[in-house]
Amino acid sequence: MKIAVLPGDGIGTEIVEQAVRVLGALDLKFEMETALVGGAAYEAHGHPLPESTLKLAKEADAVLFGAVGDWKYDKLERQFRPEQAILGLRKNLGLFANFRPAICYEQLTHASSLKPELVSGLDILIIRELTGDIYFGQPRGKRTSPDGNFPGAEEAFDTMRYTRPEIERIARVAFEAARKRSKRVTSVDKANVLETFQFWKDVVTEVHKDYPDVELDHMYVDNAAMQLVKAPKKFDVVVTGNMFGDILSDEAAMLTGSIGMLPSASLNASRQGLYEPSHGSAPDIAGKGVANPLATILSAAMMLRFSLDQEEAAQRIENAVKKVLAQGLRTPDIYSEGTTKVGTREMGDAVLAALG
Ligand code: NAI
Ligand code: MG
Repeated sequence: MKIAVLPGDGIGTEIVEQAVRVLGALDLKFEMETALVGGAAYEAHGHPLPESTLKLAKEADAVLFGAVGDWKYDKLERQFRPEQAILGLRKNLGLFANFRPAICYEQLTHASSLKPELVSGLDILIIRELTGDIYFGQPRGKRTSPDGNFPGAEEAFDTMRYTRPEIERIARVAFEAARKRSKRVTSVDKANVLETFQFWKDVVTEVHKDYPDVELDHMYVDNAAMQLVKAPKKFDVVVTGNMFGDILSDEAAMLTGSIGMLPSASLNASRQGLYEPSHGSAPDIAGKGVANPLATILSAAMMLRFSLDQEEAAQRIENAVKKVLAQGLRTPDIYSEGTTKVGTREMGDAVLAALG
């Protein structure tokens, strides 16, 4: 088994270093190879996703990714911007399923945007389709409006679309994921007004026939947005399209406290995946040794679970994280009175020690 390690820019290098130390301590047989990506790769090779990095990522069973980007690259032509590396990896590896767990750790309930009793014990998984929907549908563009409220006026338009295979494969991913959890899937759509999402609902319902052991319900996206803040614990696995998933996953992130705690995974059909924290390269705190490495360490746990078939090792890491939180150790982003403030490396040390 091989892991491509792509630390990237800003705090990327600091947080990935800690995740690599944790992975190295597990006594599992895999190889880790590091390569440049993002701004760092642009500086060295003139491209944010050099051929050699892409080749390594393609050959690997999984990619552990830090973050890319810095304000200093904002003026570069789009194709050379660090963020293009992520898009290039998604496209080249065919990553279509984005997993964003929203877990509220007991000790951090106070940091949530919601009342502690609403989020205490929260553990939901949002699965967002990543390659279709209105973000990529053609045709799109600007033109003179042919009809509507202001015919002849300047207008812009996008096309929302999903093919049956796209919906089928993401539905299967969701049902499979639910089997490893509490066996409930909520499919989020807007079937009442959108043709695309009536089709989505129909196809998800068909695929569900292959998973009779999993409970399925359907919810309109506006209601889902409301339920996520009203009673988030009612959900288990939520599956939805690219745009609704983009919005709902950010909403769910705020239930949990800090962005520094949130892992994510993007998978393809052969369960090869890219694992990264949900946050960016945080140039404002880069190089200071204060970034929270837990999102990246938890991303490594997801990698073990979903791409490397090492459920036990994944749980070992997750339990270690719970343990250090229970010990009261906090990086500044999750610090509160009465806890102990630590830096990036000390947090890594503590997780290593807590692996048991
Ligand atoms: P950001 O997520 O990097 O930072 C937002 C805020 O959260 C900052 O105040 C930062 O200090 C804090 N923060 C983020 N991660 C943290 C951690 N692990 N520990 C403690 N605090 C943390 O988002 P921002 O500032 O909008 O973007 C910065 C750069 O990152 C930009 O160049 C952006 O394009 C890039 N970016 C890259 C992503 C990726 O590589 N997948 C995703 C999002 C942004
Ligand atoms: Mg977003």
